[in-house]
Amino acid sequence: MKRVLILGSTGSIGQNTLKVIEAFPERFKVVGLVAGTRKEELLAQAEKFKPEAVALYGGELPDNLPFKTYSGLSGIRKLIEKVDFDICVAAISGSAGILPTYWAAKKGGRLALANKEALVCAGKFVKEVAREIIPVDSEHSAIFQCLKGEELKDVKEIILTASGGPFREREELDSVKPEEALKHPNWEMGKKVTVDSATLMNKGLEVIEAYWLFGLPLERIKVVIHPQSIVHSMVKFRDGSVISQMGAPDMKIPIAYALSHPERLPLLDSFPSCEIDFFGLELTFYEPDTQRFPCLKLAYESLKRGYPYPIVLNAADEVAVELFLEGKIKFTQIPLLIEEVLNSSDFPPPGSVEEVVEIDRRARELARKVAQRWL
Ligand SMILES: NC(=O)c1ccc[n+]([C@@H]2O[C@H](COP(=O)([O-])OP(=O)(O)OC[C@H]3O[C@@H](n4cnc5c(N)ncnc54)[C@H](OP(=O)(O)O)[C@@H]3O)[C@@H](O)[C@H]2O)c1
Repeated sequence: MKRVLILGSTGSIGQNTLKVIEAFPERFKVVGLVAGTRKEELLAQAEKFKPEAVALYGGELPDNLPFKTYSGLSGIRKLIEKVDFDICVAAISGSAGILPTYWAAKKGGRLALANKEALVCAGKFVKEVAREIIPVDSEHSAIFQCLKGEELKDVKEIILTASGGPFREREELDSVKPEEALKHPNWEMGKKVTVDSATLMNKGLEVIEAYWLFGLPLERIKVVIHPQSIVHSMVKFRDGSVISQMGAPDMKIPIAYALSHPERLPLLDSFPSCEIDFFGLELTFYEPDTQRFPCLKLAYESLKRGYPYPIVLNAADEVAVELFLEGKIKFTQIPLLIEEVLNSSDFPPPGSVEEVVEIDRRARELARKVAQRWL
């Protein structure tokens, strides 16, 4: 029986993780749940899964409950320190997940990693302390599976697939409304990652995540647009062979794999929607258009410039997406704001994960200042 801690249990990845665990009660036990602000949802999950401890970042929990309760960031840290777990599913959204993910990695269990920001911003520090990282992001899970039994010297390129988002074929992007950007054609995800998929920033962040996970130089990490989201990513080898991993666009598949690796769970028995129907399936691939979707290019450039630029990129993107969702800036101003913040920032490279968090804070301040003139 594997003991599982879920950081971000009330989110899209968190809820899917609980569905997988519920289907395999003889394999997994939830020992800890951590959420941001959705107190009622968190308490309902706790009542159902009976963990040993629960933490809420933004708010207090009653202390007369049949499990330990914690609150605030320091409470999350205490929970991670006190609860023994074999696997931590790190699924807090955004840079808020950096410290909790780092603390969980340091504790020594398996890190089932969804919070890409922890690697984008603090890859060096998380890798230094983590015993084992199994990716949850479907693209990285795919690459992880394609590389099984292979040697890195034989790999020519890693090829991440991207759906291209809802605006792949839309000419005019100036008038995109938040509700349109929140409608992803294939995946159901949290708001931030859905908007990032529409701007292609999500793919940019995934390129940086892949850089840390797989140890390949940036110029050998490529992106292709694949609107059907059936091929989750590919590895091209030096003999010309390409190995891909395919599957239905359902996050329960990579989540289950991160929980059960190296075994595979009989997921299809419980979730028939995880099956792909080959007949009528059409798979197409295109080159990404970085003129119309400059965020992808900005992500590559930030990593080429070196640290701390990826931290600045991520912080500026989080501020830009927030402002866009509040209706304060246009969809097309998201990359403009990020580019300007990258060009006007001058932070030193971080020497610790705490310094990463400080650069993230200062870069957000800078982004809000730069955005002032559009508000
Ligand atoms: N969804 C996907 O299909 C998908 C796929 C690949 C990778 N990812 C990555 O997985 C991560 C989570 O994505 P998501 O779509 O699940 O996001 P989401 O639905 O927005 O959920 C985010 C979770 O993080 C919690 N949270 C936010 N701020 C917090 C804080 N300061 N302290 C503690 N918890 C906090 C939220 O709690 P409350 O809701 O209670 O506030 C919620 O449980 C992201 O990094 C994303 O890029 C997601």
